[in-house]
Amino acid sequence: MNSQMDTQSLVIYGAYLISAAFFILGLKRLGKVRSARGGNTLSGVGMAIAIVAALFEANHTLTLEGQVGIGWTWVAGGAIVGILIGGIAAIRVQMTEMPEMVALFNGSGGVASALVGGSYVFRELLENESAAGLTLADVPGVGGSSAFTVILSILIGMLTLTGSIVAYLKLRGKFDAPILLPGRNFINLLLLFGSIGIGAWAAFGVSDPTTTLWVFIGVAVAASILGVMAVIPIGGADMPVVISLMNSYSGLAACATGFVLNNSLLIVAGALVGASGLILTKIMCVAMNRSLANVLFAGFGATASEADKKDARDYKNVRSADPESAAMILEAAESVIFVPGYGLAVAQAQHACKELGELLKSRGCKVTYAIHPVAGRMPGHMNVLLAEADVPYDELVEMDEINPEFKNTDVVIVAGANDVVNPVALTDPNSPIAGMPILTVHEAKTVFVIKRSLSPGFAQIKNPLFEAPNAMMMFGDAKGMLQGMITELKEALKAA
Ligand code: TAP
Repeated sequence: MNSQMDTQSLVIYGAYLISAAFFILGLKRLGKVRSARGGNTLSGVGMAIAIVAALFEANHTLTLEGQVGIGWTWVAGGAIVGILIGGIAAIRVQMTEMPEMVALFNGSGGVASALVGGSYVFRELLENESAAGLTLADVPGVGGSSAFTVILSILIGMLTLTGSIVAYLKLRGKFDAPILLPGRNFINLLLLFGSIGIGAWAAFGVSDPTTTLWVFIGVAVAASILGVMAVIPIGGADMPVVISLMNSYSGLAACATGFVLNNSLLIVAGALVGASGLILTKIMCVAMNRSLANVLFAGFGATASEADKKDARDYKNVRSADPESAAMILEAAESVIFVPGYGLAVAQAQHACKELGELLKSRGCKVTYAIHPVAGRMPGHMNVLLAEADVPYDELVEMDEINPEFKNTDVVIVAGANDVVNPVALTDPNSPIAGMPILTVHEAKTVFVIKRSLSPGFAQIKNPLFEAPNAMMMFGDAKGMLQGMITELKEALKAA
């Protein structure tokens, strides 16, 4: 990179600074539902400024070195392809498929970092005539720090790619059971430290460019195997945590590439993604009352014992209700809390849920929506779903705040939630979900549980709430059941 601070360089660095500020402000605004949309736009604008500035910087450096500048048609072509892929994906992908899409985007980010970092140093090594007979670290324009950080960029980038592909396939249900190979942790450590060691040896000790290139290709292959090996032992249902972790890795890969290219904005942006992904991973683990080590190494999904799984559908004295009888109870209710879960998203029942809420409110009933931090399959899943149906933000109440309210509530409508309302988390220390904070809906006067069957949820275990004396199952699709309740309640109100 040219160190001469001419006017154009100053403008470019100024643009980098502005982009970094936009990223930070955008991230801050993403922390609250109300400001999240604006935060997203702000980060997008920051990224647009960053891309333009980076292209001008590259062009400027090439021109100063007396080389041909960037081929703008290639850049425009790439941008159009990217915009088309992103735009079509954003329009077509269902809300419930969002984690899969994020997985693919993380993988793309990882491999892009590896390719950019790798191509930068190898172009210097293979095309620069003064590099003949030198190690990668001695090549002018590369240096020791880029020679080392490119190993990290390739390692983290490639493992993010293959790990994300496995996560995607698991989320698609192609093979969601944990695959626990013997000695897997030892093999993973060997791949990790072996790649770094051999890569460092090639970068600092080998002066034949072809050998160095092949060793780096070997590092990329080893990292790809490591990505697969690291994710196959993790149960399909833990994939949202893995995806958040992969998001963090893709940031770290970008950060490493930033060091390779000596690009300060890439370092800042990569570090922001790396840190925020890690914080999100931690938040998800805390909400599930599990350590990250438990998620990564325990093969959860296999932890619900065979006895637990067999027992999971064995219920006695289950009472059920239809929309008509539910409407009769709702007609007299003064307070109703909706508890949305994964099934609400599957059924796309958020609009019906809001409509029922509005109907209840119109006759003076107090209506709130209880939000469990890990309800659904991705962080903020329920917030996003209900925001899509324009449920007012102040009616969404977080778990700690709503739990004391259940005992004074007339009716709770659990719509497609299961594990997040399973009281066994509080009562059975041997349960796979022992200690996970839950929404204490069983304390309400009446609980309607809408789901299609007595099948277990993500944790594959029985839910004693279904046989509680104050609970009634409403077997059916969440959207159909809620719409049925709306029709019946309207009828009842008309007749009254
Ligand atoms: P789950 O425990 O997975 O239960 C969802 C229930 O929805 C199922 O029992 C299912 O029963 C029902 N369902 C599915 N389709 C339906 C439909 N069309 N209509 C009505 N019901 C339907 O969901 P939850 O209570 O939201 O808990 C989330 C779980 O995922 C937790 O265990 C959590 O730890 C885990 N998890 C969450 C995250 C994040 S970040 N959210 C990350 C990792 C893991 P039927 O098949 O009988 O209908």
